[in-house]
Amino acid sequence: MSKSQAMSPSVMVGFIGGGNMAQSIIKGLLREDVLKPEQFYVSAPSDRNLNKIKELGIKVTNNNRDVATKSNVLFLACKPYHMVAVMEEIRESVEDEQLVVPISVGTKVELFEQGLPSCHIIRVMPSLPNEVAAGIAMHTKSIRATAKDVDIVEALFKPLGCCEPVQENLLDVTAQLGGAACAWNSIIIEALADGAVKMGLPRVLANKLAPYSLLGTAKLIIETGVHPAQIKDNVTSPGGTTICGVHVMEQRGVRGAMMDAMEGAVLKAREISKNK
Ligand SMILES: NC(=O)c1ccc[n+]([C@@H]2O[C@H](COP(=O)([O-])OP(=O)(O)OC[C@H]3O[C@@H](n4cnc5c(N)ncnc54)[C@H](OP(=O)(O)O)[C@@H]3O)[C@@H](O)[C@H]2O)c1
Repeated sequence: MSKSQAMSPSVMVGFIGGGNMAQSIIKGLLREDVLKPEQFYVSAPSDRNLNKIKELGIKVTNNNRDVATKSNVLFLACKPYHMVAVMEEIRESVEDEQLVVPISVGTKVELFEQGLPSCHIIRVMPSLPNEVAAGIAMHTKSIRATAKDVDIVEALFKPLGCCEPVQENLLDVTAQLGGAACAWNSIIIEALADGAVKMGLPRVLANKLAPYSLLGTAKLIIETGVHPAQIKDNVTSPGGTTICGVHVMEQRGVRGAMMDAMEGAVLKAREISKNK
């Protein structure tokens, strides 16, 4: 949603792991013209995902060390339980002060500082809507990472949505707002469409319009800075239709349900990362 600025053509961005999240970030960066296909280099053990990445004109390999050696910015985009082994594998291939960006859920900056002690680590918690430049990608830096490293990470992610620093202990909350909330918002969109169908709108039209109701409201809030409560007040005329719907939502506890969903997801994420 913010304006993108192409990075220097000499910047090479590597991804170790080329699955769903890596592909979302890559597609977002291509879509926003931040990087060209020749500025990426991606590795994974099998060709399952690499074949799809190759179709984007991007160089791929099964050799993690080669990607580590040839990248200025190195994303670690495999699953959390592969991270320790991957770091051992590439330790001799990274340069001193190389910028490394792990994106795994529930793995602390400390793990990467220990695994790659010569590198500058900035942990980013991205989200799939980064692919369409409307995602959340908050970040936390290691002690050794510099303001210049932060600038690079923000130059990559600001064009893909919201990207700001946050304390590491809050990354699991922002991850749920970016990731799990995609599922919750989809349920709300589907339910709005179902309601519209119930009241006579054809299914195809209902499914087409329902996402716009969330998108439009979100854009208004982001672009005008108006508080959500103010928007609700602005569209609620005395004795009108909207307040009848608001009354039903309050009776059914929609606010409490959303807060409970967030609490449940964050507590579960904390439990999972404690047991790792
Ligand atoms: N998906 C999300 O919404 C989301 C959001 C925030 C953060 N994350 C984090 O992003 C990371 C990737 O998640 P994902 O959803 O993209 O998973 P995914 O689709 O399963 O992709 C994992 C990738 O890692 C590769 N891989 C496995 N072992 C490897 C190794 N030893 N060396 C190099 N690559 C290896 C896999 O290779 P193959 O292609 O050969 O299978 C695959 O390309 C995870 O740490 C996750 O916590 C995901």
